[in-house]
Amino acid sequence: TSSLKILLAVHICFLLADAMGQTTVSQQEGQVTVEERNTFQTTCTYQASSFDAFLWYQQKKGQAPQLVTYQTAAGSKQNGRFTTWLNTTEKYSLLRLAEVELSDSALYLCAVR
Ligand SMILES: *[C@@H]1O[C@H](CO)[C@@H](O)[C@H](O)[C@H]1NC(C)=O
Repeated sequence: TSSLKILLAVHICFLLADAMGQTTVSQQEGQVTVEERNTFQTTCTYQASSFDAFLWYQQKKGQAPQLVTYQTAAGSKQNGRFTTWLNTTEKYSLLRLAEVELSDSALYLCAVR
């Protein structure tokens, strides 16, 4: 049945350094298996004194990364089944994907700009 379908979501460490080497972004590395229609969640921490935007990308196998959502201020933002929270005090962002579908199988990457 369709409830037995699973999602293989992979999220990898993504590092981004500015000219001064002051900005870093890190994520847990590994694969996550989520049952269809369940929720996938991943967190990204960063070290940066300031930035214009915090971005989340989805990269499907063999494709270029696609921007899923971005935030320019602390708080939450919803874009379809994606919700992100940016906490600028604790310096992390959380990505939550609701009602996961098989076609959501991808790498989820974060970056600051
Ligand atoms: C940021 O995270 C901390 C620790 O989880 C929490 O206490 C605080 O309320 C958060 N701030 C916002 C604006 O969500």
